[in-house]
Amino acid sequence: MRYQAREVDIDGRVRLVMESALTARDRVGVQDFVLLENYNSEAAFIENLRRRFRENLIYTYIGSVLVSVNPYKELEIYSKQQMERYRGVSFYEISPHIYALSDNTYRAMRTERKDQCILISGESGAGKTEASKKILLYYAVTCPTNDHMAALGDRLLQSNPVLEAFGNAKTLRNDNSSRFGKYMDVQFDFRGAPVGGHILNYLLEKSRVVHQNHGERNFHIFYQLLDGGDDDLLNTLDLERNPHSYHYLVKGNCPRVSSISDKNNWKAVMKALPVIGFSEEEVQQLLNIVASVLHLGNTQFGEGEEGETYITTETQITNLAKLLGVDGSALGEALTHKKLTAKGEEMISPLSFEQAVSARDALAKAVYGRTFTWLVEKINRSLARKDSSVIGLLDIYGFEVLQHNSFEQFCINYCNEKLQQLFIELTLRSEQEEYEAEGITWETVQYFDNKIICDLIEEKHKGIISILNEECLRPGETCDLSFLEKLEDTLGGHPHFVTHKLANGKTRRAMSREEFRLLHYAGEVNYNVNGTVHCNLTLDQLVMCQSDNQILSHCFRREEVIDQKRPEMAATQFKNSLMKLMEILMSKEPSYVRCIKPNDTKQPGRFDEVLVRHQVKYLGLMENLRVRRAGFAYRRRFEAFLQRYKPLCPETWPNWHGRLIDGVSTLVNHLGYVPEEYKLGRSKIFIRFPKTLFNTEDALEAKKPEMVITIQSGWRGMKARRRANRRRQAADLIRRFIKGFIYRHEEYCLENEYFLDHVRYSFLKNLRKNLPKSVLDKSWPTPPPSVTEASEHLRRLHMKNMVIKYCRRVQPEWKKQMMQKVVASGIFKDQKDNYPQSVGRLFLDSRLEPEQISLKVIQTLGSEKVQYGVPVTKYDRRGFKPRPRQLLLANTFAVLVDRTKIKQRIDYTAVRGISVSSLSDGMIVLHMPNEDNKQKGDAILHCNHVIEVVTKLAMMASKVNYVNISPGSIRFTMPRGKEGIIDFVRGPELKVAKGKRGHLLVVSQQLSRIATCYLLVCF
Ligand SMILES: Nc1ncnc2c1ncn2[C@@H]1O[C@H](COP(=O)(O)OP(=O)(O)OP(=O)(O)O)[C@@H](O)[C@H]1O
Ligand SMILES: [Mg+2]
Repeated sequence: MRYQAREVDIDGRVRLVMESALTARDRVGVQDFVLLENYNSEAAFIENLRRRFRENLIYTYIGSVLVSVNPYKELEIYSKQQMERYRGVSFYEISPHIYALSDNTYRAMRTERKDQCILISGESGAGKTEASKKILLYYAVTCPTNDHMAALGDRLLQSNPVLEAFGNAKTLRNDNSSRFGKYMDVQFDFRGAPVGGHILNYLLEKSRVVHQNHGERNFHIFYQLLDGGDDDLLNTLDLERNPHSYHYLVKGNCPRVSSISDKNNWKAVMKALPVIGFSEEEVQQLLNIVASVLHLGNTQFGEGEEGETYITTETQITNLAKLLGVDGSALGEALTHKKLTAKGEEMISPLSFEQAVSARDALAKAVYGRTFTWLVEKINRSLARKDSSVIGLLDIYGFEVLQHNSFEQFCINYCNEKLQQLFIELTLRSEQEEYEAEGITWETVQYFDNKIICDLIEEKHKGIISILNEECLRPGETCDLSFLEKLEDTLGGHPHFVTHKLANGKTRRAMSREEFRLLHYAGEVNYNVNGTVHCNLTLDQLVMCQSDNQILSHCFRREEVIDQKRPEMAATQFKNSLMKLMEILMSKEPSYVRCIKPNDTKQPGRFDEVLVRHQVKYLGLMENLRVRRAGFAYRRRFEAFLQRYKPLCPETWPNWHGRLIDGVSTLVNHLGYVPEEYKLGRSKIFIRFPKTLFNTEDALEAKKPEMVITIQSGWRGMKARRRANRRRQAADLIRRFIKGFIYRHEEYCLENEYFLDHVRYSFLKNLRKNLPKSVLDKSWPTPPPSVTEASEHLRRLHMKNMVIKYCRRVQPEWKKQMMQKVVASGIFKDQKDNYPQSVGRLFLDSRLEPEQISLKVIQTLGSEKVQYGVPVTKYDRRGFKPRPRQLLLANTFAVLVDRTKIKQRIDYTAVRGISVSSLSDGMIVLHMPNEDNKQKGDAILHCNHVIEVVTKLAMMASKVNYVNISPGSIRFTMPRGKEGIIDFVRGPELKVAKGKRGHLLVVSQQLSRIATCYLLVCF
């Protein structure tokens, strides 16, 4: 249901309807005509329009129809901020606006998933095109887009200046009057982004190409080209800048219009054409056609002595041939001759002077008209049509009554009859549907059904269009007057049809003999039949379809000429296109914008009552209001109604918890509504008279001060209570804190529990921020007495954690290194002077490169692999002669090697001990059994890496506990049970020499102790 959906936003949430229309009613009329007390009074209707117009409130609703009065001045109501105001807001929430209608239509399309259309109607100059542009702009700005869609939006907007240049003209009523009907589909994808568009054009006023009334102009493009085109372009087109040089531009004697800048508009068109996909060549061909129309207008004829017609302006034919890309002589002949078929044979016969002039004009109209249709098709191709949800915009000419009304006015007014019929049908239908949905009995509405007039025009065989067709197709000489006679014969006596002959005296005086009068729903119009029946274009067509200009060859199809069937008459074409339009509109959910022109002089602030009354009448606004008000003036969903008026009833205020319908029923009973005044549907309340609603609204207004006081005092009381509560809690807290502090050293008890908990909590919070970050960091916040034990647990736990984490990160080679360092520490820490220096240096896998070890030695070792090698100095036990050696550690023994020869093998199992001094020298004594000849006794070695060598040797030989560190001297055994001694003293530099009493004296360098934690840090 339409209204139901209108009040539900995209999320399906029911919005609160603020009914600002009601509160504003006293200020400037009513925002919705439905609320007019005297809805049958045209005067009251117009007065409401006038009051609002005076305050620049140009928009008013009739239910969901938007009535718009042209302000003829720029109003500050179309900004981006205004667009935002109306976005996603319900129809009745804020003041009426074209954006509200655009937004509601858009949301209805998205939520109901039904195609929509907005029908904009009104007389020329009422603001239809402006309204359609505002709607388009609203969608371009507010709908979601991406780059591709932005380009499309740009094309949609840019198609406007091009269509306006070719299809709009200055008329007496509007400086930028659309001289064609336009229906535009804007296509949206599933996200609601505009993705395409399509335009249908209707009945361009082609007669304007060759003739304009005084004070009017031809289509804008001609003047734009002459004013804005550069000299080179005009030269190419053989044009002069002065519009007075062209017959087709001087009929209205009005080449310049103060409100229009042809130069700027020309620039806009030239900028827009490439945007909507025109190539340079296409632009040139298009301009060739525009120029050729001007040259056609300047083509003049003369009459020969024998009555034959000839062309007097041959240069024009040359220009035309060049611009249109046709054969000059063929064109000349086509303009002065016609094709006749007599007794089955085709003959070419000359045209009279008048016939030649009208053939020329007919060609100009056909060329321009078909080019315009091509232009629309071209724009459509650039708008990329897609199957998607659609909002259609119909900007169609309003009902027209001129002094001389021709066939074109007939078509225009016929179109308006059809739209009125559709409007009434759909409005009634939607009303009826709503009543049905709500379970309310339908009350018949009295309205004028204009079907009788539509039938008069379009009925098969009997309608005006059928008669016109028959007349055009009839063999032999046909003319406009014979058509009129035929009309009189067939339609005489129809209540909506009169001619001069059929009319009574008074009417007859107001009509000429060439006119027929139709009594339209909007008023009477006399139509002149002159030019209604006209001949075809066969010869011209033949020339045009051979044109080099691709636009023309596309517009004039060869098949059309070859096919002997007579083409469809213009009226039938129009009727068929109207039928299609009606089908399109019927398949969509319609919204309406009814535009009204406040005065004929395009002045801001002037409200011409007579003119407005006339439009109110022929737009059928009173009819519309009557239909809308036939049953009930006002309807609203229960929740919205209850939400607004619940303060008026003690049972519904502040909240109603039962069923909505019961709440509304309780409320209206309390308000004293009588049964005739309202009805409750399934989801809405219907109120018959505005008065009932206004009384309710007044009651609400009166109630407001009381409600304000109640709400204020409630709110203030609550605030004061909250403040007092907070103070009480704060005082209580302070008190507990002080008491807790006094009892802080007591056992955990009621008095100190808060304080101790707080202290604990604070300590833990502080600890969390200050935990040590590395295993070497031994800092730890000092705990308060109540958490000392927990703190210690946590400290250990945290350290354990860090150690685990640290160990997990250690690589296998580092682990091996660490283990060796740990063993070294166990042996040497605080025992040997040069141990601290060794801590920071890594133990290497070997101190010898593989190539430094003799291959022979490796072969001799066989399966025993060398695990570590180091250069050492071996001292003889007797005489202490130093000898360079390599100490190689294998898995089960070590060897001392002199280049390629193994000098001594030291089995690990046989090692009795390893002695080093406590000083910083590199002496090592390996104690071996003397009795075992194989082992050759103790070995005295000197090595620069004593800590590393001893550690590795001790570990490999599993003799860690056999390392002996002597402070002063080391004893060693010599052959035959003798004993030797090595003395160690500190001195300025390292020295190993024979000392007194046959001892070996080792002078160790004095070293300062250095901290040894670096290595750990490195890990
Ligand atoms: N909302 C508006 N705000 C300001 N000016 C407006 C507004 N609507 C219309 N006008 C003015 O009125 C002029 C005529 O409007 P518009 O061209 O839209 O009329 P129309 O109904 O399309 O007429 P036609 O049937 O001749 O094409 C505009 O050029 C503009 O100056
Ligand atoms: Mg217009």
